[in-house]
Amino acid sequence: MPNSSQQMKAIILYDTRTAGGSTDRFIDALGLKLAEKGAYVEKGKCKATADYSFVQDFDVVIMGAPVYYLLVASELLGALIQSNLKRHLRRKKVALFLTCGSPEPMAYMMYLPQIKIHLVRNKILAEKVFAPQQLSDDNALDAYVKDIFHAYRKALKIRNAALTWTNEAEEMLEQIPGFFRSRIRIAAEEYAEEMGYSEITLEVIDEAKGELER
Ligand SMILES: Cc1cc2nc3c(=O)[nH]c(=O)nc-3n(C[C@H](O)[C@H](O)[C@H](O)COP(=O)(O)O)c2cc1C
Repeated sequence: MPNSSQQMKAIILYDTRTAGGSTDRFIDALGLKLAEKGAYVEKGKCKATADYSFVQDFDVVIMGAPVYYLLVASELLGALIQSNLKRHLRRKKVALFLTCGSPEPMAYMMYLPQIKIHLVRNKILAEKVFAPQQLSDDNALDAYVKDIFHAYRKALKIRNAALTWTNEAEEMLEQIPGFFRSRIRIAAEEYAEEMGYSEITLEVIDEAKGELER
């Protein structure tokens, strides 16, 4: 099987109004921690109107932002509402975080749903609200990253147990240049998982490619 030892590729999509502020510092620490544990990580600051087709290249999308005046920062919410982000998040495993000053129960009840309402069909690996004092707390960050890895590995194990690649499909994948190979692998496996296929054949790859191009 071509994917079992694959490194997790994660993108952190975030927003903040404060350049160099608490969220920016937190994102850097989160990225470092994920990389230390073996993930390939990129980060991208959201723009409500950007093109998000690049999320197809990632296994996991980590999304988060601060809360300002009771609302999750606007470029992240705007991206979920206005751009093609939601379409490209289809079948993606996601992890969520918020940074805010409100007590946790209030944040889970009032702020996280502002993001989660757009992700009702996604597998959410982990979600966490970070209070300002937790943003520089290594233990809190460590626990969040552990939760992401644990849930990701579990989901991958279930998928790998259910999915096999035919020899022809595997050979075809090997012939695709590196960058596109990764994109096709991720798309084929996510597509097969959603469709309930247990085998990835050349036809399944074609169907998944067709979906990518739509
Ligand atoms: C202008 C402003 C409005 C805020 N409004 C809220 C709020 O409504 N609810 C909340 O829980 N926290 C609120 N906070 C706290 C921030 O969410 C928190 O401090 C966050 O870590 C700030 O991130 P930043 O440093 O990236 O801007 C607010 C902070 C600021 C500066």
